[in-house]
Parts: sequence; C-alpha cells; structure tokens
Amino acid sequence: MSEKAQLHLNGKVYELPTVTGSEGEKAVDISTLRDLTGYITLDDGYGNTGSCSSAITFIDGEKGILRYRGIPIEELAVKSTFVETAYLLIYGKLPTHPEKARFSDLLTENENLHEGMKHHFEGFPPSSHPMAMLSAMINASSCFYPGLMKSPDSESFEVQAARLLSQVRTIAAFSYRKSRGLPFLYPKPAYKYTANFLYMMFSDPYGSYELKPEVVRALDLIFLLHADHEQNCSTSTVRMVASSEANLFASAAAGVCALWGPLHGGANQAVITMLEEIHASGDDGRRFITAAKDKNSGKRLMGFGHRVYKNYDPRAKIIKAASDLLLHTLNREDPLLDIARKLEEAALGDSYFVERKLYPNVDFYSGIMMRAIGIPTEMFTVMFAIGRMPGWIANFKELLDERRKRICRPRQIYIGPTERHYLPPEQRR
Ligand code: CMC
Repeated sequence: MSEKAQLHLNGKVYELPTVTGSEGEKAVDISTLRDLTGYITLDDGYGNTGSCSSAITFIDGEKGILRYRGIPIEELAVKSTFVETAYLLIYGKLPTHPEKARFSDLLTENENLHEGMKHHFEGFPPSSHPMAMLSAMINASSCFYPGLMKSPDSESFEVQAARLLSQVRTIAAFSYRKSRGLPFLYPKPAYKYTANFLYMMFSDPYGSYELKPEVVRALDLIFLLHADHEQNCSTSTVRMVASSEANLFASAAAGVCALWGPLHGGANQAVITMLEEIHASGDDGRRFITAAKDKNSGKRLMGFGHRVYKNYDPRAKIIKAASDLLLHTLNREDPLLDIARKLEEAALGDSYFVERKLYPNVDFYSGIMMRAIGIPTEMFTVMFAIGRMPGWIANFKELLDERRKRICRPRQIYIGPTERHYLPPEQRR
C-alpha cells in the first residue's frame, strides 16, 4: 500500500497520495490539492516540483548518477555512439541491427534541407549568433514541410524525428558558414552523423577537411553526453510547448531558445569567455574565485554548480578525461586547461563551494575539448543543441504517447495591485 501524506491546514487534515518512482524517488501527488483546499503550492524555480512522470532519463544528483533508459552514461560513453544513443532515448531500447540500419538510412535520406530554406539564411546579418539562426531555421522548417503541422502517427513521427535530428546538424553547419561568409556544403551521404557535420563545417569547395578519427569520436562523445538530462530548462520548455499540441519542430525551436541562456547551455561559451578573461588578466584564478564568492561582483564560477547534482557531474568526469586524452593525442597544449584545473582545485578546497555543494558541471571542460576539435566559441551552445535533440524528441514522443494529455499551465500567486480604476491622463501622477 502506498504511503499517504497528511496536510494539516486551518484545523482540517487532508490525505494526499504519494508516488514512488522505479528508482525509489518519492513525490506527494498534489493534483487534487486546490480542489480540496483552495490552496496551490508555490515553488520558485520549480526546485521541488515534478512536472511529469518520465521513463527516459534517471539522475541521482546526490550520488552523481546519470542513466539513459536505465543504462549508465559511463557505459554508453565507452560502448555506444551518438546515433545509437539517440535511438535508445527516443524508442526506449537499443536498436537491433535492422533497426539501426533503418534509423541510419532515415537520417541520411532526410539530411538535406529543402532548397528554399537556403535562401532564408541570406536574410541574416553576418554578425547573427548561430543559436538565433538555429532556432529560427528549425521553426521555419514547419513552413517547408506542411505535413509537420499535423500531430504525427507513429510512422510519420519516425520520419519527422529523423528529419529533425538529421537537419539540425545541417542547419547548424550552414549557420556557421553563413556567419563566416563561407559557401554552404551539402551533406555527404557516405559519412556518418558526426563526421558529416565536421565535413559540412570545415571543408571547402576546393578541398575536403581531414576527418581525424579521434576528433570525430571526441565530438560524437560530446553529443552523446548531452543527449538528455531529464526535466532541465530547455526540455521542460519543449514539453510545455508540445503540451499545447504545437508541432515537433516548433517545440524543438523553443527548446533551442531556452538552452541559449548562460545559466543553461550557454554556460559552455561563458566558461571559455571566463577562462580567456582570467588568462588575459594574468590572474591564476584566485582573484576570480574571490569575485565569484562575492554576490555583488556579478560574477559566478561558470561551469560550476547544478540544480540537481550535489556531487561531481558524471558527464564532467568523462569530458575531463576525454579532453586530456584528445589534447595528448593531438599533441596540443591549451593554457586555458591549466587555468580550469587550478580553478577546480581552488574551488573544491574552498568552504564557499564545498558548503553549497558546487562541483564542475558538464560545461566546465566541454569548451576545452571543443576548442581542441576546432569548434569556434560561438558554436559551443549549438553543439549542445545538436546533442540535446534526441532528448527533446524523446520527451516530445513521451508526451504524444500519453493517453491523458493535459496542457501545461501552472498557476501563480498574484501580488499586484488590488482592483483600481482607469484614470484619464490629466489625473495621473
Ligand atoms: N558560482 C558561485 N556561486 C554559485 C554558483 C557558481 N557557479 N552556483 C551557485 N552558486 C551559489 C549561489 O549564489 C547560491 O548561494 P547562496 O545560497 O549564498 O545564495 C547557492 O550557490 C545556490 O545557488 P542557486 O543559484 O540557488 O542554485 P540553482 O540550483 O538555482 O542554480 C545553476 C543552478 C546551474 C544555475 C547555478 O549553479 C549557476 O548559475 N552555475 C553557473 C552556470 C552554469 O555553469 N550553468 C550550467 C549548468 S549545467 C548544464 C546545463 O544544465 O545547462
């Protein structure tokens, strides 16, 4: 029998059911609270609010555990690829050989943008941020594929999902080429997902970019590690938009916008900007740590802290080791890596960060790795968006498959003026 929670309010006792997840997480089900009591819950930033039940990703923030569909991220990082992991997230199981081949074919068949979409890029000024172009162009896809406007059945969902997953990488590469005034390069069907992206980003019409296996693998790993992270800001946004029955592309475009901010996906770009500033100022990190602890400085140690992890982010551990390996294999040094290591050491030994359980998150070392790959800083958050696409698609599908669909519509406690009346301009002060 499930436990009941008791709420004592104004001399009455209300019993509320509890819910236990498959990993033992517990929640008080308050769906009848307002009807029963007239009260709602208030939870600034949703820190204690479960917005849905989901079978996609499990995180234990205290222990530093992350699993996609039950499989530990550490195993997937070593044994899987981004595309296989995308299938796992979207369809709930690792693909068999024929399923994988079909998924891969669908990605290849849908990799080219509608030719008309290319002209849209012409309208953006050269200084446009690639995240702005990415969200705009994903949304614009609904105009080019009118079928997207309808709620998909399982067959059309398969094609829509493959189209979005495949084209996000083409749009991302085109956005970069546009921002640099470079010609677009069409995807090459012979290349796998990540190699194709690097080819479109860095080749020239007169010469193909050399695809180094260790670089392709490193970027594939970055995509894989970002593939899902349960109800974060952007995924919740995707679910919120999708709950109104907006189409997959519109929902994903909203996810890109939510991801852009420096407290979320934009942190990877902000980390490198922070490290560059520290480097340029000749600070060894100590001055910055002092500033990050001072609430009036307007600074935070970017790439540190997490709403859910109160332990080392498992993705950060994998990325840290992988970036060390990549720099070693490519025989490169990066002064920013030394600063990052010093900052980490200083923060992990500082009571401010220890007491608040602030550890490096996925963004702390990912920028160093992307720099080594050759990804320009303004494209870092775009890399996060490509990586997060399977998670957004999986969450969209989960919502689509729900029998009882409800629009997401939180309430509020109103704290504005009570009723007052319209004044003509001459009476206003
Ligand atoms: N540097 C300095 N102080 C910090 C930091 C930081 N990076 N992060 C949190 N704090 C302090 C914060 O000032 C507060 O202190 P106090 O209790 O004295 O007021 C306390 O720690 C709790 O912080 P919070 O802002 O209430 O925590 P949150 O759960 O709302 O925010 C966070 C989580 C990730 C937005 C925040 O830790 C942060 O801003 N980190 C830097 C940005 C960053 O790296 N973001 C990437 C997150 S991981 C990838 C992703 O999901 O996109």
